[in-house]
Amino acid sequence: MSKGTPAAILEIAFKTVNLNKNDVLVDLGCRDGRVPQLASLMTGCYAVGIENNPESTEKAKKITERLKLDKKVLIINDNLFNVDLSPYSVVYVYQSGGLLKRLSKKLRKEAKHTKIVALDYPLCKMSPTKTVVVGKRCLYFYGDLS
Ligand SMILES: C[S@@+](CC[C@H](N)C(=O)[O-])C[C@H]1O[C@@H](n2cnc3c(N)ncnc32)[C@H](O)[C@@H]1O
Repeated sequence: MSKGTPAAILEIAFKTVNLNKNDVLVDLGCRDGRVPQLASLMTGCYAVGIENNPESTEKAKKITERLKLDKKVLIINDNLFNVDLSPYSVVYVYQSGGLLKRLSKKLRKEAKHTKIVALDYPLCKMSPTKTVVVGKRCLYFYGDLS
């Protein structure tokens, strides 16, 4: 999991959830902010990235500024477990292991009616609505995708 999600994978993910300008997307653990930045650039949606690593957060904020996305993308330095998920129509997750297990519990409780996309590692105790294999990668989709 050393690299972030490639743009080509994100394009498929956004198309599959019909991401559009009326959506509000959150990336739980956004590293350099590419997911919210590309979501906004590709679809015009408002997008938020949560990141608990201070250096990554700074990098994500700088790239967002450089891309002049300040009005459409918000990068927040916080623990993703503190985030209220209720404002979001799409949640993006690229996490694994114990963190994903704990996060899955939060999503089962708080994001029952939200579209969720998980890359490579499926959420625990949740059945995907759809899976899309792209080469060696796999996208798992949850919720009503219409
Ligand atoms: C595999 S990277 C995914 C980056 C990005 N979502 C992408 O797909 O390109 C996981 C990120 O989650 C962050 N992270 C890990 N635990 C976190 C937590 N509790 N709260 C917020 N961010 C966290 C890591 O610092 C890392 O930047």
